[in-house]
Amino acid sequence: MSEAAVEPQPVVGPLTRAAIFLVATVTPGSDSRAAVRAFCGDLAGLVRAVGFRDPEGRLSCIMGIGSDAWDRLIGPPRPAELHPFREIRAGERHAVATPGDLLFHIRAERMDLCFELATQILARLGPAVAPVDEAQGFRYFDERDLLGFVDGTENPAGGAASEAALVGAEDAGFAGGSYAIVQKYLHDLAAWNALPTETQERIIGRAKLSDVELDDAVKPSSAHNALTQIVENGRQIQILRDNMPFGSPAKGEFGTYFMGYARSPRTIEQMLVNMFVGRPPGNYDRLLDFSRAVTGGLFFAPALSFLESLPVDAPPPAAAAPSPSTPPSRDGSLGIGSLKGDPDHE
Ligand code: HEM
Repeated sequence: MSEAAVEPQPVVGPLTRAAIFLVATVTPGSDSRAAVRAFCGDLAGLVRAVGFRDPEGRLSCIMGIGSDAWDRLIGPPRPAELHPFREIRAGERHAVATPGDLLFHIRAERMDLCFELATQILARLGPAVAPVDEAQGFRYFDERDLLGFVDGTENPAGGAASEAALVGAEDAGFAGGSYAIVQKYLHDLAAWNALPTETQERIIGRAKLSDVELDDAVKPSSAHNALTQIVENGRQIQILRDNMPFGSPAKGEFGTYFMGYARSPRTIEQMLVNMFVGRPPGNYDRLLDFSRAVTGGLFFAPALSFLESLPVDAPPPAAAAPSPSTPPSRDGSLGIGSLKGDPDHE
Protein backbone atom coordinates (compact mmCIF):
# COMPACT_ATOMS: atom_id res chain seq x y z
CA MET A 1 0.00 0.00 0.00
CA SER A 2 1.49 3.37 -0.91
CA GLU A 3 2.14 5.89 1.87
CA ALA A 4 -0.31 8.34 0.28
CA ALA A 5 -3.19 5.85 0.49
CA VAL A 6 -2.82 5.33 4.23
CA GLU A 7 -5.68 6.69 6.29
CA PRO A 8 -5.47 5.95 10.03
CA GLN A 9 -8.47 4.99 12.12
CA PRO A 10 -9.64 7.99 14.20
CA VAL A 11 -7.17 7.29 17.02
CA VAL A 12 -6.13 10.92 17.18
CA GLY A 13 -9.62 12.22 17.76
CA PRO A 14 -10.91 14.73 20.26
CA LEU A 15 -11.98 13.34 23.63
CA THR A 16 -15.74 12.91 23.89
CA ARG A 17 -18.32 12.90 26.65
CA ALA A 18 -19.21 9.22 26.27
CA ALA A 19 -17.51 5.99 25.23
CA ILE A 20 -18.07 2.25 25.13
CA PHE A 21 -15.11 -0.11 25.38
CA LEU A 22 -16.09 -3.49 24.02
CA VAL A 23 -13.82 -6.54 24.00
CA ALA A 24 -14.82 -9.77 22.27
CA THR A 25 -13.30 -13.11 21.40
CA VAL A 26 -13.73 -14.60 17.93
CA THR A 27 -15.37 -18.01 17.93
CA PRO A 28 -13.38 -20.80 16.25
CA GLY A 29 -14.10 -21.80 12.68
CA SER A 30 -13.80 -20.56 9.13
CA ASP A 31 -17.30 -19.01 9.15
CA SER A 32 -16.30 -16.73 12.00
CA ARG A 33 -13.08 -15.81 10.25
CA ALA A 34 -14.95 -14.90 7.06
CA ALA A 35 -17.57 -12.93 9.01
CA VAL A 36 -14.96 -10.87 10.85
CA ARG A 37 -12.95 -10.20 7.67
CA ALA A 38 -16.08 -9.04 5.88
CA PHE A 39 -16.98 -6.89 8.88
CA CYS A 40 -13.60 -5.07 8.72
CA GLY A 41 -14.64 -3.53 5.42
CA ASP A 42 -18.15 -2.73 6.66
CA LEU A 43 -17.28 -0.97 9.90
CA ALA A 44 -16.80 2.51 8.43
CA GLY A 45 -20.19 2.28 6.72
CA LEU A 46 -21.87 1.25 9.97
CA VAL A 47 -20.28 4.20 11.78
CA ARG A 48 -21.52 6.53 9.02
CA ALA A 49 -25.04 5.10 9.18
CA VAL A 50 -25.38 5.53 12.94
CA GLY A 51 -23.33 8.72 13.20
CA PHE A 52 -25.04 10.67 10.44
CA ARG A 53 -28.23 10.69 12.49
CA ASP A 54 -26.51 13.33 14.65
CA PRO A 55 -23.32 14.63 13.01
CA GLU A 56 -22.66 16.88 16.02
CA GLY A 57 -22.51 13.74 18.14
CA ARG A 58 -19.08 13.00 16.54
CA LEU A 59 -19.44 9.24 16.63
CA SER A 60 -16.27 7.28 15.90
CA CYS A 61 -15.01 3.77 16.38
CA ILE A 62 -11.56 2.24 16.49
CA MET A 63 -11.20 -1.50 15.96
CA GLY A 64 -8.17 -3.29 17.39
CA ILE A 65 -7.05 -6.87 16.80
CA GLY A 66 -5.21 -9.01 19.37
CA SER A 67 -2.04 -10.97 18.65
CA ASP A 68 -3.49 -14.50 18.41
CA ALA A 69 -6.49 -13.20 16.49
CA TRP A 70 -4.15 -11.54 14.00
CA ASP A 71 -2.69 -14.93 13.14
CA ARG A 72 -6.08 -16.60 12.87
CA LEU A 73 -7.92 -13.86 11.02
CA ILE A 74 -5.37 -11.93 9.02
CA GLY A 75 -2.16 -13.98 8.76
CA PRO A 76 1.30 -12.75 7.80
CA PRO A 77 2.83 -10.24 7.69
CA ARG A 78 2.26 -9.08 11.26
CA PRO A 79 2.68 -5.66 12.84
CA ALA A 80 6.28 -5.79 14.07
CA GLU A 81 5.55 -5.35 17.78
CA LEU A 82 2.21 -7.13 18.19
CA HIS A 83 2.25 -9.74 20.97
CA PRO A 84 -0.08 -10.84 23.76
CA PHE A 85 -0.48 -8.50 26.75
CA ARG A 86 2.35 -9.18 29.19
CA GLU A 87 1.08 -9.57 32.70
CA ILE A 88 3.07 -8.21 35.61
CA ARG A 89 3.13 -9.45 39.20
CA ALA A 90 4.91 -7.52 41.94
CA GLY A 91 4.05 -7.82 45.62
CA GLU A 92 0.30 -7.40 46.00
CA ARG A 93 0.07 -5.83 42.56
CA HIS A 94 -1.00 -7.71 39.46
CA ALA A 95 -1.50 -6.38 35.95
CA VAL A 96 -3.66 -9.23 34.67
CA ALA A 97 -3.90 -10.43 31.08
CA THR A 98 -7.47 -11.32 30.11
CA PRO A 99 -8.95 -12.86 26.95
CA GLY A 100 -9.82 -10.64 24.00
CA ASP A 101 -9.43 -10.88 20.22
CA LEU A 102 -11.15 -7.68 19.15
CA LEU A 103 -11.39 -4.26 20.79
CA PHE A 104 -13.96 -1.67 19.82
CA HIS A 105 -13.35 1.79 21.24
CA ILE A 106 -16.53 3.70 20.48
CA ARG A 107 -16.64 7.43 21.22
CA ALA A 108 -19.34 10.09 20.87
CA GLU A 109 -20.75 13.13 22.58
CA ARG A 110 -23.89 11.13 23.41
CA MET A 111 -24.15 7.67 24.96
CA ASP A 112 -27.12 6.77 22.74
CA LEU A 113 -24.87 6.93 19.66
CA CYS A 114 -22.27 4.70 21.31
CA PHE A 115 -24.96 2.32 22.50
CA GLU A 116 -26.55 2.05 19.06
CA LEU A 117 -23.22 1.43 17.33
CA ALA A 118 -22.18 -1.24 19.85
CA THR A 119 -25.54 -2.93 19.30
CA GLN A 120 -25.18 -2.79 15.51
CA ILE A 121 -21.61 -4.11 15.63
CA LEU A 122 -22.59 -7.11 17.74
CA ALA A 123 -25.67 -7.77 15.60
CA ARG A 124 -23.57 -7.70 12.43
CA LEU A 125 -20.91 -10.01 13.86
CA GLY A 126 -23.51 -12.36 15.34
CA PRO A 127 -22.20 -15.77 16.45
CA ALA A 128 -18.75 -15.00 15.00
CA VAL A 129 -17.85 -13.27 18.27
CA ALA A 130 -18.51 -13.63 21.99
CA PRO A 131 -18.34 -10.37 23.97
CA VAL A 132 -16.15 -10.78 27.05
CA ASP A 133 -16.19 -7.27 28.50
CA GLU A 134 -18.04 -4.00 28.11
CA ALA A 135 -17.52 -0.72 29.96
CA GLN A 136 -19.67 2.33 29.42
CA GLY A 137 -17.57 5.40 30.17
CA PHE A 138 -18.74 8.91 30.95
CA ARG A 139 -17.07 12.28 31.49
CA TYR A 140 -17.16 13.23 35.14
CA PHE A 141 -17.27 16.95 35.98
CA ASP A 142 -14.22 18.82 34.65
CA GLU A 143 -12.51 15.81 32.98
CA ARG A 144 -11.93 14.19 36.38
CA ASP A 145 -11.56 10.51 37.19
CA LEU A 146 -13.57 9.07 40.07
CA LEU A 147 -10.58 9.69 42.35
CA GLY A 148 -11.37 13.37 41.86
CA PHE A 149 -8.31 14.34 39.77
CA VAL A 150 -8.35 15.89 36.31
CA ASP A 151 -7.22 13.10 33.98
CA GLY A 152 -5.71 13.72 30.55
CA THR A 153 -4.00 17.09 31.06
CA GLU A 154 -0.58 16.10 29.72
CA ASN A 155 -1.92 14.27 26.69
CA PRO A 156 -0.12 15.28 23.50
CA ALA A 157 -2.24 17.25 21.00
CA GLY A 158 -2.15 17.90 17.24
CA GLY A 159 0.97 16.68 15.45
CA ALA A 160 2.49 15.49 18.73
CA ALA A 161 -0.51 13.17 19.23
CA SER A 162 -0.01 11.54 15.82
CA GLU A 163 3.71 11.31 16.47
CA ALA A 164 3.02 9.54 19.80
CA ALA A 165 0.25 7.22 18.66
CA LEU A 166 0.74 6.29 15.01
CA VAL A 167 3.23 3.83 13.56
CA GLY A 168 5.51 5.48 11.00
CA ALA A 169 8.34 4.44 8.72
CA GLU A 170 9.76 2.07 11.36
CA ASP A 171 7.16 -0.50 10.21
CA ALA A 172 6.15 0.92 6.85
CA GLY A 173 3.69 -1.86 5.97
CA PHE A 174 1.65 -0.95 9.05
CA ALA A 175 2.15 2.83 8.99
CA GLY A 176 -0.88 4.70 10.30
CA GLY A 177 -1.74 1.88 12.70
CA SER A 178 -1.58 2.14 16.47
CA TYR A 179 -1.00 -0.19 19.41
CA ALA A 180 -3.77 -0.01 22.01
CA ILE A 181 -3.42 -1.20 25.59
CA VAL A 182 -6.54 -1.36 27.73
CA GLN A 183 -6.96 -2.08 31.43
CA LYS A 184 -10.05 -1.84 33.53
CA TYR A 185 -9.27 -0.61 37.05
CA LEU A 186 -11.57 -0.76 40.08
CA HIS A 187 -10.95 1.71 42.89
CA ASP A 188 -11.37 1.32 46.64
CA LEU A 189 -12.96 4.74 46.89
CA ALA A 190 -13.69 4.56 50.61
CA ALA A 191 -9.99 4.00 51.37
CA TRP A 192 -8.91 6.63 48.82
CA ASN A 193 -11.32 9.24 50.14
CA ALA A 194 -10.07 8.61 53.68
CA LEU A 195 -6.61 9.92 52.63
CA PRO A 196 -5.80 13.59 53.25
CA THR A 197 -5.91 15.57 49.99
CA GLU A 198 -2.17 16.33 50.29
CA THR A 199 -1.40 12.59 50.36
CA GLN A 200 -3.57 12.02 47.28
CA GLU A 201 -1.79 14.88 45.51
CA ARG A 202 1.61 13.32 46.20
CA ILE A 203 0.36 10.01 44.78
CA ILE A 204 -0.86 11.61 41.55
CA GLY A 205 1.77 14.36 41.32
CA ARG A 206 -0.69 17.20 40.70
CA ALA A 207 -2.83 19.52 42.83
CA LYS A 208 -6.38 18.18 43.13
CA LEU A 209 -8.41 21.38 42.75
CA SER A 210 -6.24 23.42 40.39
CA ASP A 211 -4.68 20.46 38.49
CA VAL A 212 -1.31 22.25 38.59
CA GLU A 213 1.69 19.88 38.60
CA LEU A 214 3.48 19.62 41.95
CA ASP A 215 6.85 21.27 42.19
CA ASP A 216 9.77 18.84 41.81
CA ALA A 217 10.86 19.79 45.33
CA VAL A 218 7.72 18.18 46.80
CA LYS A 219 6.78 15.61 44.14
CA PRO A 220 7.96 12.12 45.16
CA SER A 221 9.70 9.93 42.58
CA SER A 222 6.83 7.44 43.09
CA ALA A 223 4.19 9.95 41.90
CA HIS A 224 2.01 8.59 39.10
CA ASN A 225 3.06 11.33 36.70
CA ALA A 226 6.74 10.74 37.54
CA LEU A 227 6.67 6.96 36.99
CA THR A 228 4.81 7.37 33.69
CA GLN A 229 7.42 9.80 32.31
CA ILE A 230 9.54 7.91 29.81
CA VAL A 231 12.67 9.61 28.53
CA GLU A 232 14.87 7.98 25.88
CA ASN A 233 18.06 9.67 24.70
CA GLY A 234 17.00 12.88 26.39
CA ARG A 235 13.61 12.93 24.63
CA GLN A 236 10.24 12.32 26.31
CA ILE A 237 8.33 9.48 24.65
CA GLN A 238 4.60 10.13 24.92
CA ILE A 239 1.46 8.07 24.54
CA LEU A 240 -2.12 9.13 23.83
CA ARG A 241 -4.66 8.36 26.58
CA ASP A 242 -8.43 8.43 26.62
CA ASN A 243 -9.26 7.19 30.13
CA MET A 244 -12.90 7.19 31.14
CA PRO A 245 -14.67 6.76 34.47
CA PHE A 246 -17.26 3.99 34.61
CA GLY A 247 -19.11 2.20 37.36
CA SER A 248 -22.25 1.32 39.21
CA PRO A 249 -23.05 3.04 42.51
CA ALA A 250 -25.58 0.31 43.31
CA LYS A 251 -22.88 -2.36 43.02
CA GLY A 252 -20.28 -0.21 44.77
CA GLU A 253 -18.22 -0.31 41.56
CA PHE A 254 -16.09 2.77 40.80
CA GLY A 255 -13.56 2.47 38.03
CA THR A 256 -11.22 4.00 35.50
CA TYR A 257 -10.95 2.42 32.07
CA PHE A 258 -7.36 2.98 30.97
CA MET A 259 -7.14 3.38 27.20
CA GLY A 260 -3.67 4.09 25.85
CA TYR A 261 -2.49 4.34 22.24
CA ALA A 262 1.16 4.31 21.21
CA ARG A 263 3.28 3.79 18.10
CA SER A 264 5.14 1.13 20.08
CA PRO A 265 3.67 -0.96 22.91
CA ARG A 266 7.07 -0.80 24.62
CA THR A 267 6.35 2.70 25.90
CA ILE A 268 3.14 1.71 27.69
CA GLU A 269 4.72 -1.54 28.89
CA GLN A 270 7.59 0.41 30.43
CA MET A 271 5.10 2.69 32.18
CA LEU A 272 3.30 -0.36 33.55
CA VAL A 273 6.54 -1.87 34.84
CA ASN A 274 7.38 1.45 36.50
CA MET A 275 3.92 1.59 38.07
CA PHE A 276 3.63 -2.04 39.21
CA VAL A 277 7.25 -3.04 39.93
CA GLY A 278 8.55 0.46 40.63
CA ARG A 279 11.40 2.67 39.44
CA PRO A 280 13.68 1.60 41.07
CA PRO A 281 11.95 -1.69 42.00
CA GLY A 282 9.87 -1.18 45.14
CA ASN A 283 9.27 2.52 44.42
CA TYR A 284 5.89 1.67 42.89
CA ASP A 285 2.78 3.72 42.11
CA ARG A 286 0.70 4.09 45.31
CA LEU A 287 -2.36 4.56 43.07
CA LEU A 288 -2.22 0.76 42.90
CA ASP A 289 -2.81 0.44 46.65
CA PHE A 290 -6.28 1.81 45.87
CA SER A 291 -6.82 0.51 42.31
CA ARG A 292 -6.93 -3.06 41.03
CA ALA A 293 -6.57 -3.99 37.36
CA VAL A 294 -9.27 -6.52 36.48
CA THR A 295 -8.63 -6.74 32.73
CA GLY A 296 -5.64 -6.25 30.44
CA GLY A 297 -5.23 -6.51 26.69
CA LEU A 298 -2.98 -5.42 23.84
CA PHE A 299 -4.39 -4.82 20.37
CA PHE A 300 -3.24 -3.40 17.05
CA ALA A 301 -5.57 -0.93 15.35
CA PRO A 302 -4.47 -1.03 11.70
CA ALA A 303 -4.99 1.91 9.36
CA LEU A 304 -8.55 2.27 8.07
CA SER A 305 -7.27 1.72 4.55
CA PHE A 306 -5.78 -1.63 5.69
CA LEU A 307 -9.12 -2.76 7.18
CA GLU A 308 -11.04 -1.69 4.09
CA SER A 309 -8.74 -3.43 1.62
CA LEU A 310 -8.71 -6.79 3.42
CA PRO A 311 -9.89 -9.45 0.95
CA VAL A 312 -12.83 -11.39 2.41
CA ASP A 313 -12.09 -14.65 0.63
CA ALA A 314 -8.35 -14.98 1.32
CA PRO A 315 -7.28 -18.55 2.19
CA PRO A 316 -6.83 -19.28 5.92
CA PRO A 317 -3.27 -18.59 7.12
CA ALA A 318 -2.50 -22.32 7.50
CA ALA A 319 -3.01 -22.79 3.77
CA ALA A 320 -1.09 -19.67 2.80
CA ALA A 321 2.61 -19.99 2.01
CA PRO A 322 4.87 -18.41 4.65
CA SER A 323 5.61 -14.89 3.58
CA PRO A 324 9.31 -14.19 3.05
CA SER A 325 8.51 -10.51 3.55
CA THR A 326 7.30 -11.02 7.15
CA PRO A 327 9.06 -8.30 9.14
CA PRO A 328 11.95 -9.62 11.25
CA SER A 329 11.07 -10.13 14.88
CA ARG A 330 12.20 -7.51 17.37
CA ASP A 331 11.69 -9.62 20.46
CA GLY A 332 11.32 -13.21 21.50
CA SER A 333 7.57 -13.33 21.94
CA LEU A 334 6.99 -11.84 18.52
CA GLY A 335 9.16 -14.46 16.91
CA ILE A 336 7.01 -17.16 18.45
CA GLY A 337 3.83 -15.32 17.53
CA SER A 338 4.76 -14.96 13.88
CA LEU A 339 5.16 -18.71 13.57
CA LYS A 340 1.51 -19.17 14.45
CA GLY A 341 -1.31 -19.45 11.99
CA ASP A 342 -1.25 -23.18 12.38
CA PRO A 343 -4.64 -24.54 13.41
CA ASP A 344 -2.96 -26.55 16.18
CA HIS A 345 -2.40 -23.26 17.99
CA GLU A 346 -6.03 -22.23 17.77
C1 HEM B 1 -6.02 3.67 37.86
C2 HEM B 1 -5.87 4.09 36.63
C3 HEM B 1 -5.33 5.45 36.32
C4 HEM B 1 -5.73 6.67 36.76
C5 HEM B 1 -6.89 6.98 37.71
C6 HEM B 1 -4.85 7.66 36.17
C7 HEM B 1 -4.93 9.01 36.40
C8 HEM B 1 -4.03 9.95 35.94
C9 HEM B 1 -4.02 11.35 36.30
C10 HEM B 1 -5.03 12.01 37.23
C11 HEM B 1 -2.98 11.93 35.67
C12 HEM B 1 -2.55 13.40 35.75
C13 HEM B 1 -3.16 14.28 34.71
C14 HEM B 1 -2.76 13.98 33.29
O1 HEM B 1 -1.71 14.40 32.82
O2 HEM B 1 -3.51 13.26 32.66
C15 HEM B 1 -2.33 10.92 34.88
C16 HEM B 1 -1.22 11.11 34.07
C17 HEM B 1 -0.66 10.15 33.30
N1 HEM B 1 -0.97 8.81 33.29
FE1 HEM B 1 -2.41 7.91 34.38
N2 HEM B 1 -3.95 7.01 35.37
C18 HEM B 1 -4.19 5.66 35.44
C19 HEM B 1 -3.49 4.67 34.81
C20 HEM B 1 -2.45 4.89 33.94
C21 HEM B 1 -1.74 3.85 33.24
C22 HEM B 1 -2.04 2.36 33.37
C23 HEM B 1 -0.81 4.48 32.46
C24 HEM B 1 0.20 3.89 31.50
C25 HEM B 1 0.53 2.64 31.47
C26 HEM B 1 -0.93 5.90 32.68
C27 HEM B 1 -0.17 6.87 32.06
C28 HEM B 1 -0.18 8.21 32.36
C29 HEM B 1 0.67 9.20 31.72
C30 HEM B 1 1.66 8.96 30.58
C31 HEM B 1 0.39 10.42 32.33
C32 HEM B 1 1.02 11.78 32.00
C33 HEM B 1 2.31 11.92 32.77
C34 HEM B 1 2.97 13.26 32.49
O3 HEM B 1 3.72 13.33 31.51
O4 HEM B 1 2.71 14.23 33.24
N3 HEM B 1 -1.92 6.11 33.59
N4 HEM B 1 -2.96 9.71 35.08
